[in-house]
Amino acid sequence: MSPVVSIGAAARRPCTLVVCRGCCCGDARKNPGIDHDWQLERLRSAAAASRGRFTVRTSDCLGPCGQANLVVVQPSSEGRRRGGRAAWVGFVTDDESLDGILAWAEAGGPGMAQPSATLALQMVDPRAV
Ligand code: FES
Repeated sequence: MSPVVSIGAAARRPCTLVVCRGCCCGDARKNPGIDHDWQLERLRSAAAASRGRFTVRTSDCLGPCGQANLVVVQPSSEGRRRGGRAAWVGFVTDDESLDGILAWAEAGGPGMAQPSATLALQMVDPRAV
């Protein structure tokens, strides 16, 4: 059996927050009264301040629109090696949700740290939608 060799950036990929901004997530008609742009700016600012510990990117519709706003917390390379898997967090519509996501990402994300109990309740099974 040959050893697994990781090459380049993939070997050092940080935890990544994939912020859905499709037809429903981030849309004031779906979730009024939320500053969706500010949410995204807050996540991006925190990522910039994290010195590479986590990153943020946006995505078109990921599927479970009924749970908008959706953020997928992807494990870092090391987190994946330790068994972490992508976690789909739904109903990200308030500051507490963002606090939980950011705290988890700061701690390393899936495979490196546990999400808060509150955040765990917001997990969505993408296979069930
Ligand atoms: S727009 Fe986010 S899941 Fe569809």
